[in-house]
Amino acid sequence: MGKPIVCIVAALCPQMGIGFRGGLPWKLSREMKYFRQVTTSTFTQDKSNAVIMGRRTWESIPARFRPLKNRINVVLSKKFPNFQRDNDRYLSNDLSEAIRSLQTLPVERIYIIGGAQLYAESIDIATHWLVTKIYFEPHDQQQPQQAPPVDTFLPRLTHHSEASPERLAEFLPTQVELPPLQTLQYGRRHYNTQDNYTYWYTLYNNNSINTT
Ligand SMILES: NC(=O)c1ccc[n+]([C@@H]2O[C@H](COP(=O)([O-])OP(=O)(O)OC[C@H]3O[C@@H](n4cnc5c(N)ncnc54)[C@H](OP(=O)(O)O)[C@@H]3O)[C@@H](O)[C@H]2O)c1
Repeated sequence: MGKPIVCIVAALCPQMGIGFRGGLPWKLSREMKYFRQVTTSTFTQDKSNAVIMGRRTWESIPARFRPLKNRINVVLSKKFPNFQRDNDRYLSNDLSEAIRSLQTLPVERIYIIGGAQLYAESIDIATHWLVTKIYFEPHDQQQPQQAPPVDTFLPRLTHHSEASPERLAEFLPTQVELPPLQTLQYGRRHYNTQDNYTYWYTLYNNNSINTT
């Protein structure tokens, strides 16, 4: 593999909502597990993945869970110095510089993990998007019956096309556990359900960048 693929990982609801009051609008343990497996797993044993995040997303991760383990963590802020190590994470004040610096390390993939500001800035840089689509579908009376409020949104993906579920499975190392492929009301997908949510995993290619 040559340069690491720069890939965006995001979970969103139908109006492209991704956040609420500095946190996630939902609490979905299987989606968190998928995120952990995707961003941690590699095809090559002697490489690891990197995750790049905006300062606010870093602050939204509970202190006991950060840095995200078994991944190189890079946090961006205009107040930070040029790319440099700070204990168990890297700091950078520039996204392009952070990507160039990571490309000199034994990194397999660079995952951009949010938030909204960073996603918007990365649209033309990332070759792929791994998007979890989350639909609120109340069926469990014990759970909230209202769709969760959202106040932070992803821009629409205009020059991207969705790959098949088979291509998604090939794109991910085998350690990533995808739920079984099923044909339900939203088409043929790897579906999960939890509480009052149905969600599924997708891969989008950025058609403005030459990808395979
Ligand atoms: N659903 C999902 O998949 C998902 C994933 C991640 C986050 N989220 C949610 O998204 C929300 C946070 O998003 P957000 O847009 O408010 O914040 P964010 O993108 O996480 O962080 C924004 C901050 O990062 C720094 N930054 C961003 N781009 C930079 C660049 N190119 N160079 C240098 N610094 C840069 C700036 O920090 P300074 O102000 O310090 O300069 C900026 O204020 C939260 O609600 C979070 O839970 C959702």
